[in-house]
Amino acid sequence: MRVIRKATYEEASKACAELIASQIRLKPDCKVGLATGSTPVGTYKALVDFYKEGSLDFSRVVTANLDEYRGLGGDHDQSYRYFMNTNLFDHVNIDKKNTFVPDGLEADAVKACTDYDAILKSLGHLDIQLLGIGGDGHIGFNEPADAFCVNTQCIDLEKQTIEDNARLFFNGKIDEVPTQAYTMGIGYIMKSTTVILMATGAGKKDIVEKAFTGPVTPSVPASILQLHPNVVVIGDEAAISEKVVAAAD
Ligand code: PGA
Repeated sequence: MRVIRKATYEEASKACAELIASQIRLKPDCKVGLATGSTPVGTYKALVDFYKEGSLDFSRVVTANLDEYRGLGGDHDQSYRYFMNTNLFDHVNIDKKNTFVPDGLEADAVKACTDYDAILKSLGHLDIQLLGIGGDGHIGFNEPADAFCVNTQCIDLEKQTIEDNARLFFNGKIDEVPTQAYTMGIGYIMKSTTVILMATGAGKKDIVEKAFTGPVTPSVPASILQLHPNVVVIGDEAAISEKVVAAAD
């Protein structure tokens, strides 16, 4: 595990964007796993800046997102497809045909999951996967469970996740937060050549420490990343404790 600890959110975002940009420059047709939420917003801003400066070309990049709310279509302003379009895809030269997000409008949950798994299988493994971490340790929307889930699944969101998302999004209206989501499984996340987990803010400090210095357990889904051979934890000083820094290779 590598740990990159920066003083501020902006610096951590820049460092995260640099890692993703380096991967794209090294392999222009690389496959990049993307995350949503408040954490990666600054990273996407920095990637857009690199593109506008002329130092980054997305024309051959393929992306696969971690998750989508069940029941929301891409034009719903709280859907993750909408988030990706407005935060990144609309501002760079990516071909949207090469950007994949689970289909939130597919009401048949089994079909939604098998369809997304078929897409992921056709992509093969990702070169780099960006993750946030939920307050309960979830990655993607893989919530704490009795076992690590391998494939794409339809998940019932935990109360804490619904509350977190209402607070940050959905104008605070908890009743409007969907209660289920489709999420890429942990098995596919673990296949990515490189995994970046980004965490910022004091609210993430305890869970990051638990995930990277505690036992590997499905009750803290992010803890499985301790077993990934090439994981980079990026964050600010508020989120990354000395204990996590000390656990780095
Ligand atoms: P956040 O969400 O970036 O909005 O904190 C992270 C996550 O739930 O994975």
